[in-house]
Amino acid sequence: MCGIIGATGPIPVAKILIEGLERLEYRGYDSAGVALVVEGGIWRTRAAVSTVSMKSLADAVVNAPKVLDAGVGHTRWATHGAPNERNAHPHSDCTGKVAIVHNGIIENHAILSSRLIEDGHNLASDTDSEVIAHLVEENLRDGSSLTQAVLNTLKVIEGTYAIAAVRSDEPGTVVAARNVSPLIVGVSEGASYVASDIPAILGRAEKYFSVADGQVVTLKGENLQVDVVGEAPGELMPLEVSWDLDMAQKGGYESFMLKEIDEEPRAIADTLRMRGIEAIEMFDELNLDPAVLRQIDKIFLVACGTSFHAAMVAKYAFEHWCKIPVELDIASEFRYRDPVVDGKTLVIGVSQSGETIDTLQALREARRLGSHAIAVANVVDSSMTREADGVLYTRAGPEIGVAATKTFVAQVAILEAFALSLAELRNTLYKSETELLMNELLTIPLKVERAIARASEYRSVAKEIGDSKDFFFLGRHVGYPTALEGALKLKEISYLHAEGFAAGELKHGPIALIDSSSVVIGVATRGRLWSKVLSNLEEVRARGARVVVVANEDDTQTAHFGDYVFKVPSTHELFAPLIDIIPLQFLAYDLALQHGNDVDRPRNLAKTVTVE
Ligand code: G6P
Repeated sequence: MCGIIGATGPIPVAKILIEGLERLEYRGYDSAGVALVVEGGIWRTRAAVSTVSMKSLADAVVNAPKVLDAGVGHTRWATHGAPNERNAHPHSDCTGKVAIVHNGIIENHAILSSRLIEDGHNLASDTDSEVIAHLVEENLRDGSSLTQAVLNTLKVIEGTYAIAAVRSDEPGTVVAARNVSPLIVGVSEGASYVASDIPAILGRAEKYFSVADGQVVTLKGENLQVDVVGEAPGELMPLEVSWDLDMAQKGGYESFMLKEIDEEPRAIADTLRMRGIEAIEMFDELNLDPAVLRQIDKIFLVACGTSFHAAMVAKYAFEHWCKIPVELDIASEFRYRDPVVDGKTLVIGVSQSGETIDTLQALREARRLGSHAIAVANVVDSSMTREADGVLYTRAGPEIGVAATKTFVAQVAILEAFALSLAELRNTLYKSETELLMNELLTIPLKVERAIARASEYRSVAKEIGDSKDFFFLGRHVGYPTALEGALKLKEISYLHAEGFAAGELKHGPIALIDSSSVVIGVATRGRLWSKVLSNLEEVRARGARVVVVANEDDTQTAHFGDYVFKVPSTHELFAPLIDIIPLQFLAYDLALQHGNDVDRPRNLAKTVTVE
């Protein structure tokens, strides 16, 4: 939800900012802009991205005057104020000598802007962020440095923020600060960078640090100075970054989404580290005593969007293997429904970004209520990983496409591996059973690869059914979350009407929607409810719907129940979502292309949502 970047040093600042913004676009693309410190002032260019692309921002920057070693940039997902050029960041003060970029929400902006207007300031946008520029302007009047002015500004603003500011009177300097919204700093010889996320500066920095809440960092060439507000630590925390530049670039693919689908086998393998069954102690960052895990009598899984569907698959696994009751909550609902948790409850927040505010707040609430809380996250050192008791990392590499693909399978894989280890620890499965299952789990990357090799088959079915406007995804047992995720992918990037249902529930209402214009996709790989899914598919065929079945490639019977078939390798039924989702991702992808949509940047969506 908005991405910010800043750069300082004798480096091509403008180019670095634009490239960084391109890599941050997954955080929002309603508008974008950069501000550069130049001779005599600040030079700004901004664009509403729907009308003017990032390329024209890059073209505009070429005509900028000579840059004095500092600049900031922003890509926006609109919250306060329409997504137009006027509301695009960077925002400036009345003198035009200060520019700021902000990610987060300034909760007391209404009071602050009334006061600023009364005092004669000219606010040029409808955003909550602009007040920061004017407050900095006021705090500079007594001759303070930009750093001191930012520190004083932070005393009066309330809310969440990652901020970067530049000032024409202090060339070569960027001042950045953080409260809740993510912020990292990178340093290389002679230069330093600040950004919302690592991909923005991958390949540029040699060392990375995470900025803590309450820290204000002044970047000047390779020098970093840290000031603090309140109790914040005085040192930056070093970050170990194992991602390389290729991971954050398209590498010849037509889209990030296609690249990331292709990376799914590796995402699963890296997440499982291919080490075979791991004892609980081997989950490096879990940080929970086995004695505590033996005593857990209830698990809550909380998540949003795609992560919620991965969590839903995990519910079946935990209950079946570990015999622990599991509650599944949409994160934004969890803390408002008086969840009954205590010291024997384990709350697991599942999140690709580790920043989604709904899930983060749920984890905070879980800890406040005295339960154990762990995060499943893909981004190292993200907010959830710092606030939870422990972490299960997915190691999928950076995911840039807004529609989650490789992180979904990585989440399912790590949660299922954890469930198996927990089952072994709690003696609900014999070691020989967990070993057999884990060995099967370790075959999944190859099987996913085999499914991906069938992409052209999946995509040709997508062409046959591309004329329909209504898509219904049906599944039972773990096929149900697969169906929900298939429908979500289709909605997100094709903007077509798509819904996922528990196949057995269709007859209790939704079947009224089915007619000959409908397409029904049935997840009918072999599992305990396979024959029941087939009966449910017969019900919709009888009402004229065109049916596509997801069926095991060695299954000669199931294909007859559909007009079309997506063949996939078979596996243990609890692992099936890892494979069955592949054709559904390709289906969404192809239908989005058929409708001329930008698959990596679907309308109205942001990859990371840090507002409630
Ligand atoms: C946004 C994204 C979804 C994602 C959800 C949860 O809505 O558009 O793709 O599934 O957030 O994100 P998280 O980072 O918590 O997994």
